[in-house]
Amino acid sequence: MSERFTKGMARNIYYGGGAFFFLLFVALTFDTVTVLPKRENRDQLTAQVAHGKALWEENNCIGCHTLLGEGAYFAPELGNVFKRRGMENEAVFKAYFSAWLKAMPTGVEGRRQMPQFHLNDEELNDLAEFLIWTSRINTNDWPPGIEG
Ligand code: HEC
Repeated sequence: MSERFTKGMARNIYYGGGAFFFLLFVALTFDTVTVLPKRENRDQLTAQVAHGKALWEENNCIGCHTLLGEGAYFAPELGNVFKRRGMENEAVFKAYFSAWLKAMPTGVEGRRQMPQFHLNDEELNDLAEFLIWTSRINTNDWPPGIEG
C-alpha cells in the first residue's frame, strides 16, 4: 500500500481537492449573488414595505411567528399568509389582515392567543404591504404546504 499511495499523491489530492472545492464555493457564491436580486424583487421595495418591516421588528412578530421558516414555531408561518388568506388579492388580504389584528386576542378557549397591538390604519396597511412583498419572494415553492 505504502508503495502505491505515496506522500506526493496524498499532497496532490489535498491541494487539488482544496482548489476544486474552493473554486466551486466561489462559483456558487457568484451564482447566489447574481440570482438573488431577481428572486427577491428588490425593485418593488417601497417606503411602505420598509415601514412595515420596521413595525414587524418593533412588535416582535417573529417572537411567535416564522417568516420563510425563520423565527419562532408558536404561531403560523406568515411568509405565505397573503396567498393563504388573501387569495393573492391585495384588497382582500388587507381587509382580512386589518380585521384579524383588530380582533386580537380572540379569547377562544384552547387556542393560542395573539396579543392586541393597537396599530393604526396606516401601520396595518404597511405591515400588510411588507407581508405581500415577502410572499412574492421566489423561494422555489417553499414552504410546500399552504398552511405551513
Ligand atoms: C405572543 C405571540 C404572537 C405575537 C407576538 C404575534 N402573533 Fe400573530 N398569531 C399568534 C397566534 C397564536 C396566532 C394563531 C391564532 C389562532 O389561530 O387562533 C396568530 C395568527 C396570526 C395571523 C393569522 C395567520 C393565519 O394563518 O390565519 C396573522 C396574519 C398574524 N398572526 C400576524 C401577526 C403580526 C403582523 C404580528 C406582529 C405585529 C404578530 N402576529 C405577532 C401569536 C402571535
